[in-house]
Amino acid sequence: MTAPLNVWDYERLAEERLGPGAWSYFAGGADDERTLRWNVEAYGRWQLRPRILCDVARVSTETTVLGTEVALPVLVAPVAFQRVAHPDGEAATARAAASAGTVMCLSTIATATPADVAAAAPGAPRWFQLYVFKDWGLTSALVQQAADAGYSALVLTADTPYLGRREGPLRTGFAIPDDVRIPAVDTARGGGLQPFSLHEHFDLFSPAVSWRDVERLTDLSGLPVVVKGVLTAEDARLACEHGAAAIAVSNHGGRQLDGVPGTLDALPEVVEAVEGRVEVYLDGGIRRGTDVAKALALGARATLAGRAVLWGLAVGGEEGARHVLELLRDEIRLALSLLGCTSPAEIRREHVAPAP
Ligand code: FNR
Ligand code: LAC
Repeated sequence: MTAPLNVWDYERLAEERLGPGAWSYFAGGADDERTLRWNVEAYGRWQLRPRILCDVARVSTETTVLGTEVALPVLVAPVAFQRVAHPDGEAATARAAASAGTVMCLSTIATATPADVAAAAPGAPRWFQLYVFKDWGLTSALVQQAADAGYSALVLTADTPYLGRREGPLRTGFAIPDDVRIPAVDTARGGGLQPFSLHEHFDLFSPAVSWRDVERLTDLSGLPVVVKGVLTAEDARLACEHGAAAIAVSNHGGRQLDGVPGTLDALPEVVEAVEGRVEVYLDGGIRRGTDVAKALALGARATLAGRAVLWGLAVGGEEGARHVLELLRDEIRLALSLLGCTSPAEIRREHVAPAP
């Protein structure tokens, strides 16, 4: 095969590279994987409405998220266990995000500490994704580590009180290899040792997380809290009322409750309910620059890419992850130009229409 030209090429190469076990974990979704498919298919249900003769000699893909400048409206979504995908793991992803000029979100279930990942890309903006431990002392210690290491927002993942049932890894028997450590979880277990299944990791986290925790975490950390996993107008309103700094419309990449809408389908009601009070992001199924354009047209300020960047990491480490982000940036620039927009801010609802 020639050099990968797009995210789909990276996906095929990643499948070969990862082998059936790791592939089943990274690529898979919950139950019948309906939501996993809808995330991608939703982009096909909207068409673009370009405007012509707009002078697009100069086009910028830059925007801001929570006041932080990013070179493109795509952030790196939190994805667990990155050393399973590539030996360089989260540090490589952090360097790739830094050189592409965007924010990386580090997972609580990372295979490196917040400080190590910060040190890999010292000047870059970074956010920390939080799973709340049953033990609040552990949660506050981890939040403190993240704040000390310069993470400038907390991303509270709210759709995972329990782990969704993913049958792919059950069939392949995939387990996290013994030599892959998760520092936050090791600490929680007092240095306990493997073998340790993903479900056992999740037993450490609290299913009692509630809206109260949004305020609690804001007070604890002094950092803006992004609530990730909003799919309804009702929860969008509650997030605003409880002091969320931003909302991420997400269904966890189709890995939690199967049967919830593709995120692009959920976006309009969330945007409407938010009434401009906080920034709204979207993740799920982002594979093309035109996907990002559609999300922006429907009111997202920015998007996050999970698997797309992960496939880059799996195939080519830091360079692969960076290449994926560069491909997306170039596709977004071309999409903006051909839509007649000179920046993400110029994309409007009128630039999309439902496909007939
Ligand atoms: C995830 N996601 C996720 N989210 C989170 O908040 N914490 C985490 O640790 C993880 N881990 C994780 C592992 C893997 C293998 C995947 C695929 C996803 C969800 C992620 O942040 C994001 O919501 C989705 O990946 C978005 O969908 P796409 O871009 O993968 O289609
Ligand atoms: C997952 C968890 C770790 O989706 O967020 O696998």
